[in-house]
Amino acid sequence: MQQKLHYKKRAIIVGATSGIGLELAKGLLNEGWIVGVAGRRTEELKKNYNLSSEQVFFQTIDITHEDATNGLHQLISQMGGVDLFVQASGIGFQNPVLDKELEIKIAETNAVGFVRMVATAYQYFRDNGGGHIAVISSIAGTKGIGISPSYSATKRLQNTYIEALAQLSNMYKHRIYFTDIRPGFVKTALLDGDKKYPMLMTPSRVAKHIIKAINKRKRVVVIDWRYRCVVFVWRLIPNWLWERLKIRN
Ligand SMILES: NC(=O)c1ccc[n+]([C@@H]2O[C@H](COP(=O)([O-])OP(=O)(O)OC[C@H]3O[C@@H](n4cnc5c(N)ncnc54)[C@H](OP(=O)(O)O)[C@@H]3O)[C@@H](O)[C@H]2O)c1
Repeated sequence: MQQKLHYKKRAIIVGATSGIGLELAKGLLNEGWIVGVAGRRTEELKKNYNLSSEQVFFQTIDITHEDATNGLHQLISQMGGVDLFVQASGIGFQNPVLDKELEIKIAETNAVGFVRMVATAYQYFRDNGGGHIAVISSIAGTKGIGISPSYSATKRLQNTYIEALAQLSNMYKHRIYFTDIRPGFVKTALLDGDKKYPMLMTPSRVAKHIIKAINKRKRVVVIDWRYRCVVFVWRLIPNWLWERLKIRN
């Protein structure tokens, strides 16, 4: 006799083609969630999931395009609603020479695209009885990082934007929960494959931490404990000293 699946909840992950978003989607599927996955590379996206599964829904979304909001609404309506929205997509490069096109490209994805998607999800939840928004920002938002100006600045924007929306939701009783996920280095395509990174984590391990944090509705989570120590120390460093440090890898 076929076992009937009792689906718990519905999640949408924007940026689920590779890396952390992909592992998170797989983890949620394993837990029985219905998952809507989105990204720009449609073929690559579909290749990573079981196409015949009734648990997975697909949508091509480029968050830098204005019509990304329509894509999100379409995915929500295909799934008959959503309980958890995860903004995982992002790009990042070290850019010490300040290639302006690159700086702007990062800002268009991590700042403009991020706000576009998170604000759309907020409005949906506000108008439909509440929900949960989780974003994958980074520990890079803790301080301005000289070799990654646009990346670290846009990650700080993400932290602050979520803080602002959390206050907004409380103020107007919109019943929206927020989880700001801040990982350290994770072995994904986002990092330069030719470089060595300290305390490198696997995306599957990070995804496990994220699922735990989401299930516990944690507001902010730094992954993992070693990076919590790093963030703690970074915060103690006064600005005059921070700006004189040589941080590179
Ligand atoms: N790796 C790390 O060390 C690390 C550390 C801290 C935080 N993070 C953050 O984790 C998040 C995920 O990155 P990752 O490390 O898993 O890297 P990744 O493997 O390169 O994944 C990036 C994801 O974002 C999607 N994406 C990129 N641009 C997009 C756009 N314009 N529209 C829609 N989707 C887009 C990609 O899918 P498509 O290419 O199909 O669009 C892909 O699914 C990022 O926000 C990153 O800043 C990473």
